[in-house]
Amino acid sequence: MKKNLSRLFWSMSVAFCMIAIFAFTVPQDQKAGAPWKIPATFKASANTFKGAASEKVGKLLYAKHCKSCHGNIGEGDGPKASSMKTKIESFKDPKFQAQADKDIYYQIVVGRDEMPAFDKKLLDEEDRWALVNYVRTLK
Ligand code: HEC
Repeated sequence: MKKNLSRLFWSMSVAFCMIAIFAFTVPQDQKAGAPWKIPATFKASANTFKGAASEKVGKLLYAKHCKSCHGNIGEGDGPKASSMKTKIESFKDPKFQAQADKDIYYQIVVGRDEMPAFDKKLLDEEDRWALVNYVRTLK
């Protein structure tokens, strides 16, 4: 009787470990983000900062705030990307690059779901536009 119980205990432990290993190693399917709906009423300041100097600032800000999720060159493969429920698309995607500057500004400043809103972290209009200008270079 005792022997049977310990055998049962061991087989249950083995089964549990196998389930745990499976759950942690098999990646969960990430859903694709739906197209962004930018409210027609959304107004951004003018992008008066375009140019190499702004892109340079954007690069530094990107390394600090964005790279962990969006990856080194914006391909959506940063170290945190795999833990997101939503698949992070590449900034190289022509559909992404075809958007207006103001729409990209909205995505960064207002965000949605797992894309954090950066309105409180980036108070300066110049910094916000520097990021827009920088992601434009990642095509
Ligand atoms: C914690 C992870 C995380 C960080 C940090 C992060 N993002 Fe994102 N970002 C996401 C996710 C996830 C999405 C997709 C969200 C969706 O589709 O709902 C996204 C979407 C976007 C989009 C919209 C384009 C698209 O393909 O959906 C832009 C633009 C963007 N991020 C820029 C930035 C910038 C610039 C920074 C840094 C200031 C940044 N992100 C920081 C996770 C992150």
